Amino acid sequence: MAEEMKEVIIREFQPSDLRQVAKISASSFRSDLLKLVKLSEAQMVDFLIETGESFPYPFPGYIVAERNGELLGVMRLTWHKQNKPKARFKISKILRYGWLTTIKLLVMRYLFPEKPSKGACHVAEIAVKQQTRRRGIATKLLNFGKEVALKNGLSKYTLNVDASNITAFNLYQKMGFKIEKRHRNLLARWLMGVKEWYFMSLNLGASNQ
Ligand SMILES: CC(C)(COP(=O)(O)OP(=O)(O)OC[C@H]1O[C@@H](n2cnc3c(N)ncnc32)[C@H](O)[C@@H]1OP(=O)(O)O)[C@@H](O)C(=O)NCCC(=O)NCCS
Repeated sequence: MAEEMKEVIIREFQPSDLRQVAKISASSFRSDLLKLVKLSEAQMVDFLIETGESFPYPFPGYIVAERNGELLGVMRLTWHKQNKPKARFKISKILRYGWLTTIKLLVMRYLFPEKPSKGACHVAEIAVKQQTRRRGIATKLLNFGKEVALKNGLSKYTLNVDASNITAFNLYQKMGFKIEKRHRNLLARWLMGVKEWYFMSLNLGASNQ
């Protein structure tokens, strides 16, 4: 197993990775996405691509884990004044999935904005393929991201995590992240079933890993 993981490389996203990235997101966030729109997993891949939720262009901080051409994980980092193509909110495409889905997506973006404070590197998304979890891939992605952040003069990692996502919470705690704020919001509960979420941060100079 350890040998197998030695073949995993962490690199920047390329446009040809888009479908594999959307597949990882569709299966990793399946239960959350089902609260947004009722689609099969294959249809969800198209939904993520069509609506631009799976970001199609490379930029510094958009990172994937690959083993022999197969993508095993993805992480998207955002920061203030990042050199990043502007995300197009494809409202006409989203409307095809209905008003309720469109409203939920807008509320989700409002509740979980990807606008980090100055000097912070925000983990906007991290997901690992189900079959290769618990083998250190997310840890590798976060460690690689740390180097990217430091190179860009950023001193802190931030992220939001659903309090019920124990797996992700354990990962962040193990990396040394601390809870900065606990959030509860009726809209998030009603629309997305999120009862509570944490805003966590990690001083990059003091990371455990
Ligand atoms: C959260 C996620 C990214 C972790 O990826 P991963 O590659 O399996 O994580 P790692 O192997 O690097 O695990 C590092 C640590 O995280 C914790 N962890 C990971 N999986 C866990 C599990 N199933 N149960 C409990 N703790 C777990 C452990 O502390 C683990 O260290 P250990 O194996 O030495 O005990 C992955 O489970 C995933 O894609 N989940 C779905 C998407 C998601 O929830 N993303 C986060 C949104 S905020």
